[in-house]
Amino acid sequence: MVTDIESQLQTLAESAQSAIASTDNLSSLEELRIKYLGKKGELSLILKGMGKLSAEDRPRIGAIANEIKSTIQNTLTNQQNDLKQAQINHKIASETIDVTMPGVSRPLGKIHPLQSTIDRVIDIFVGLGYTVAQGPQIESDYYNFTALNTPPDHPARDMQDTFYFDDGNLLRTHTSSVQIRYMENNEPPIRVIAPGRVYRRDTVDATHSAVFHQIEILAVGKGLTFSDLKGTIKEFLRQMFGDDLPTIFRASYFPFTEPSAEVDVEWQGKWLEVLGCGMVDPNVLKAVGYDPEIYTGFAAGLGIERFAMIQHKIDDIRRLYNSDQRFLQQF
Ligand code: DAH
Repeated sequence: MVTDIESQLQTLAESAQSAIASTDNLSSLEELRIKYLGKKGELSLILKGMGKLSAEDRPRIGAIANEIKSTIQNTLTNQQNDLKQAQINHKIASETIDVTMPGVSRPLGKIHPLQSTIDRVIDIFVGLGYTVAQGPQIESDYYNFTALNTPPDHPARDMQDTFYFDDGNLLRTHTSSVQIRYMENNEPPIRVIAPGRVYRRDTVDATHSAVFHQIEILAVGKGLTFSDLKGTIKEFLRQMFGDDLPTIFRASYFPFTEPSAEVDVEWQGKWLEVLGCGMVDPNVLKAVGYDPEIYTGFAAGLGIERFAMIQHKIDDIRRLYNSDQRFLQQF
């Protein structure tokens, strides 16, 4: 016979199942557990009426109650697992990175072709035991000319058109001025290179600029000869152009070297003048207090723009200064 309790248990089972199935979060699920299975929950409440049952109904109803309890318990556990899994899935979905989305592109800076040329020349000479020296761009007449064996009415001053300041100072026309400054402050043996900016009153065109860059090379010691100069320059050109290119040393003239030469390299079927050089004039050594009977030296000067243009096949020097991204991005 179906007792009152039995039907109460059935109702409880049904309402618990549907309530649990429709919960969507863990805290209301916990509330349901307390509501149905807690110490003072609905199941306990119903079971309190067990005392009124006949001895023959009691074990049967007891078994039904246990079964309902464990069914509800299982449903709770399953629902709890589902909700936890759903929570994890949601978290994973919300944290997913879509690697197919276009990224934020950060523009990368590049080394300017003039700087990379300077860096290469420095690397080569550092490999030959040279260190890097610097001097000011605003120079006195003394360092730019006079100490370099070019006194005031020397005709060679016309070789370089100079920007003068009212106070008699000038914008250095070459990095040779650094030779004097370095020798004044150091004793031989000397091996330095001095990269830097120089200025001339030149009309700007495809191959001239009023501001450009040079690298000065200077070695002073005992017994240095023109062979040392030639060997050094040839080794430098070999490393710079990546090959043993035909080279000519042509006799030339610079006030601060004697003898002087200009060097041409055969590059892509043409002879290109790449630098000036020579043995440091004894008057230059005297100007810095070195005894030319004891010391000899060689020096060279080269234009960076020229090297950069040869190397990268750049047809117009102005491209190196006008910061056109389309041009610069190629390097
Ligand atoms: N200073 C020279 C110029 O600007 C280049 C030069 C020639 C530098 C011969 C030297 C050298 O050191 O020995 O035209």
